[in-house]
Amino acid sequence: MKPVALVTGGGKGLGAAIAGHLFTEGYRVVVGDIDLVAAQATAERLGEAAFAVQVDVSNEVSVEGMLDVAEQVFGLPWLLVNNAAVMKAEKVLDIEIETFDTVLAVNLRGTFLGCQRFARRLRAKEAGGRIVNIGSLAGENGGTATGAHYAASKGGVHTLTKVFARDLAPHGITVNAVAPGPLDLPSVAETIGAENAARVMANLPTGQAGNPLTVARMVAELARADAGSITGSIIDINSGLYMR
Ligand SMILES: NC(=O)c1ccc[n+]([C@@H]2O[C@H](COP(=O)([O-])OP(=O)(O)OC[C@H]3O[C@@H](n4cnc5c(N)ncnc54)[C@H](O)[C@@H]3O)[C@@H](O)[C@H]2O)c1
Repeated sequence: MKPVALVTGGGKGLGAAIAGHLFTEGYRVVVGDIDLVAAQATAERLGEAAFAVQVDVSNEVSVEGMLDVAEQVFGLPWLLVNNAAVMKAEKVLDIEIETFDTVLAVNLRGTFLGCQRFARRLRAKEAGGRIVNIGSLAGENGGTATGAHYAASKGGVHTLTKVFARDLAPHGITVNAVAPGPLDLPSVAETIGAENAARVMANLPTGQAGNPLTVARMVAELARADAGSITGSIIDINSGLYMR
């Protein structure tokens, strides 16, 4: 039986690339997104071994609903990719508290809920599994162009990755994160503006933005059944912008 992967924010951008790659790797894929039409478009491109579900990852009832539907249709997933996020670029002194809370709710609480609710289900069935969180270079260095709320949320995602990894390690469940720098995706210019995006891209040490497929391949590698010794890792794919 093909393993099941659930990708949040899979309607477009990196999430769609991850969903597509996991499909080619032999997964049945559940595409979760707050934008149901976008999620359906991704799922339709993949065919019968994929379906779309609407989810707001910041809402616990909605996250439980997504997991319920995934289990009913395909069975308990092996892999959850917490990819959904909102990206915001604002000067720290200009950030409104409502915006701060929204970014943290989607990016950080959303990742927490995904990890916790999925892991509870795995534990209830004494099943192993894989969780891959999508972090960010911003979570390591404060970001080159994005906002404090976004960077802080991604720093939190990296920390949650380690806490869940530690607690779930004895149970055959690994939890890792990939921390991309600027990717070759429309969301970069949409978030920081075309001019800033061009400047950032021109100053990448490697001379090339991250390829979404490279991130997707890393997710698949971390999700392998024989990759059980990798856990609590934050894998940088940042064009050489930050080396720790
Ligand atoms: N694009 C980059 O250069 C870059 C760099 C570092 C990290 N990342 C991370 O990669 C991930 C994907 O980024 P992207 O560039 O594809 O962004 P994107 O904006 O193109 O896609 C994000 C997706 O998440 C969905 N989403 C937003 N809020 C949601 C919610 N509450 N519940 C469910 N779905 C929701 C959106 O509808 C969209 O389909 C994010 O975690 C982002 O922080 C991106």
